[in-house]
Amino acid sequence: MRMTVLGTGYLGATHAACMAELGHDVLGVDVDPSKLAKLEAGEVPFYEPGLQEVLKRNIDEGRLRFTDSYEEAADFADVHFLAVGTPQKRGEYGADLKYVDAVIDTLSRLITRPAVIFGKSTVPVGTAERLGRRARELAPSGVQIEVAWNPEFLREGHAVEDTLRPDRLVVGVDETAPSRAEGIAREIYEKTISSGTPFVLTNLATAELVKAAANAFLATKISFINAIAEVCEAADGDITQLADAIGHDDRIGRKFLNAGIGFGGGCLPKDIRAFMARAGELGADQALTFLREVDNINMRRRTQMVELTRRECGGFLGARVAILGAAFKPESDDVRDSPALNIAGQIHLQGADVRVYDPKAMENSRRLFPTLTYSESIEEACEGADVLLVLTEWKEFISLTPQDIGKRVRSKRVIDGRNCLDGAQWRAGGWTYRGLGRALGNTK
Ligand code: UDX
Repeated sequence: MRMTVLGTGYLGATHAACMAELGHDVLGVDVDPSKLAKLEAGEVPFYEPGLQEVLKRNIDEGRLRFTDSYEEAADFADVHFLAVGTPQKRGEYGADLKYVDAVIDTLSRLITRPAVIFGKSTVPVGTAERLGRRARELAPSGVQIEVAWNPEFLREGHAVEDTLRPDRLVVGVDETAPSRAEGIAREIYEKTISSGTPFVLTNLATAELVKAAANAFLATKISFINAIAEVCEAADGDITQLADAIGHDDRIGRKFLNAGIGFGGGCLPKDIRAFMARAGELGADQALTFLREVDNINMRRRTQMVELTRRECGGFLGARVAILGAAFKPESDDVRDSPALNIAGQIHLQGADVRVYDPKAMENSRRLFPTLTYSESIEEACEGADVLLVLTEWKEFISLTPQDIGKRVRSKRVIDGRNCLDGAQWRAGGWTYRGLGRALGNTK
């Protein structure tokens, strides 16, 4: 089937490449010339394992092209995926829908044949219905446009796998009017559905809410375990053993119960805030006040990490702090609202000499936080350090041995912000090891 993907960021570039991989003819559309130039050359403008290969193969085999022309997009296909960003508004909790609105306004005026637009971006509930009305108003008379919602659940670092083999497909349609969207979606995802992926058909509002609820649940799960981690720290408990033990209960499950410096990235933090803001507009704000606490617990992890580091160094002035990790999670170069970079920034601004290293996120970190000092390697970052912080659980950090790094540092002190190191091994190597969610006064 022929289709366009409007917006080629993390979500759009991955969706475009994966739809071509499923055998469709895909045109990716973006207004950013530098992004387009890279994609046209078969290069992914960000780090995402496996995406480069899928992108290149499908460009070479003629199923995937890119353009900046909405005229070309309207002419090329009658099925369009909307995949532009919905960032948090400056100084407000709500989502900024200006990019989504701009796509609908531009495309609808240019469409000359009946078309279906599938929204994939995460939007406040009610947006799809509004966009549908707007599209029908702007379309040339007699041209039918339908807006349906097909939310995306991909995780950065696993984006290709999550798009080709998702846990479920959700399609929301306007149930008050005749809809072609279900049939078209079933055809697009035929291979995925026939391999057993559940297909959930809903109305527009439910589809939008499924995404908001999924992210709110995941954020809550992480903040839950981080809140219990605070209690463990006060009571001499061990959060990792506790998470393993409660995770054995199928009803709870072990996934997303890793305590540490908390969640970040371009989705969970802004999505829970936008969800609260939207519930407020709908008069249901009380229902989601708990998400404010989820957010507070999460942000508190960052300040607690800073305070713990200060204690370990005996004050920041004159102290050198080695920080391993800047990306918001491993297998990604994304530093948007990254707890790691936020902590590095706070410690630096409070007077310590901070050296940061990350295997993939150096360029993005420099752009976001140019005044930090960045090192070219783990060893360089650790040289003469008074304390070592591991803030993103990259494989190369997990496999470090206390002996290798012990020769570089001034004091053998490590704080494990992700509970990803083997504490016993580091202690046996002569280090003071502290993991969040374990008795913090305990130097065993
Ligand atoms: C998330 C959702 O998982 C995805 O379904 C949605 O579409 C977009 O938002 P992503 O932001 O790529 O995806 O990353 P995810 O793997 O969910 O991790 C989010 C954050 O939570 C990261 O900062 C990660 O380090 C943190 N996290 C995750 C924890 O602190 N503990 C955990 O146990 C799991």
